[in-house]
Amino acid sequence: MPVVHVVNRGLKYKVARGATILKAAQNSEADWHWLCGGQALCGTCAVLVVEGALAQPSALEQYFIEGWGYHPAFRLACQAKVLGDVSVIACSDVGHDQQAALGLLTEAQSRKRHGRAAR
Ligand code: FES
Repeated sequence: MPVVHVVNRGLKYKVARGATILKAAQNSEADWHWLCGGQALCGTCAVLVVEGALAQPSALEQYFIEGWGYHPAFRLACQAKVLGDVSVIACSDVGHDQQAALGLLTEAQSRKRHGRAAR
């Protein structure tokens, strides 16, 4: 069973292959923002992918990410299907500030490059 690691929370959730990142959080009763109910309308569930195996974005998710000018590493947790272990940053924890989230991504990637475990 794949594991979703939320790096900036230091939490890991197991999820069935093919389920979404949001489903993994909900199954673990994690505090997660998802205002539109998982309809790819609000972006409150957004994550940045540090590494891992996710299905390609659907046309709807791609439209949202490109339409709002998000960095390509952004995914919608309500749409992104987990195919294997994945590490992400929950953007709600930095108030959905894209630059702050990208700073966390850079930090996590640097830790990985230098062989230090993510939090
Ligand atoms: S919950 Fe609204 S876009 Fe994911």
